[in-house]
Amino acid sequence: MRHAAEISSVAHELAMRASKDGIFEYQLQSIIEGFFVYGGTSGWAYPSIVGCGENATILHYTVNESKCKGDEIILIDAGAEYKGYAADITRSWPIGGTFTDAQKEIYEIVLDAQEQAIAACRVGNPYNQPHEVARSVLAEGLIRLGIINQSLGEALDSQSGQLKNWYMHNTGHWLGLDVHDVGVYKPDGTPRLLEAGMVLTVEPGLYFGAWRPDVDCPERYANIGIRIEDDVLVTEDEPDVLTKRCPKTIADIEGIVGSL
Ligand code: GLY
Ligand code: MN
Ligand code: MN
Repeated sequence: MRHAAEISSVAHELAMRASKDGIFEYQLQSIIEGFFVYGGTSGWAYPSIVGCGENATILHYTVNESKCKGDEIILIDAGAEYKGYAADITRSWPIGGTFTDAQKEIYEIVLDAQEQAIAACRVGNPYNQPHEVARSVLAEGLIRLGIINQSLGEALDSQSGQLKNWYMHNTGHWLGLDVHDVGVYKPDGTPRLLEAGMVLTVEPGLYFGAWRPDVDCPERYANIGIRIEDDVLVTEDEPDVLTKRCPKTIADIEGIVGSL
């Protein structure tokens, strides 16, 4: 799993370096999947999601044929499989290498949510604690930006809360021989507690699809889709982020994109 994670991390970094205005989604896909082969893996662990602009706001987008513009965010969810074991990484970055203010506002919230959720991947915590942590941080951030006009408690409500308009999936899953690995989440109906040796993904996101008929997308954030996903080994001590080599901070990303 460490090798799959390492190769997948470098593959994302190479795609960042190759990004530029006018590149096609499939060109970035080919760099990533080509490096999976170069790295001795058996290729992708699941079909790669490579979506720029509004495609970044479509959760299971795999068409990967659009031309990217410099001011758009590209979201890439791609991981390699090595000796049967999967990696699962998502990174999101501006094709032209510089985040707009609006993109930065959303990215910072998702990164904060992801880092706090990773910190919750500790022995003895319920498996869904990272999800609850991420949900709170995302909702607080969207309240701060004025995108959600409810209290924190209201925003998190599964029926009437506004968070689910912009964050509509779980924060992670078991990872191993399958990308969504086998394993019971709620034996006896209660969330399983994390144990050393378990590996799970941590992947919060925010998606502002201006194309959606069901919600009014705030214009400032139209077609920004951000997800940040790492693979985390639970240990007796600090969580071990297997994909930590993959660039993730705004400063690192802005320093790398387009540098090929
Ligand atoms: N790549 C599938 C997932 O993130 O769950
Ligand atoms: Mn995943
Ligand atoms: Mn993924």
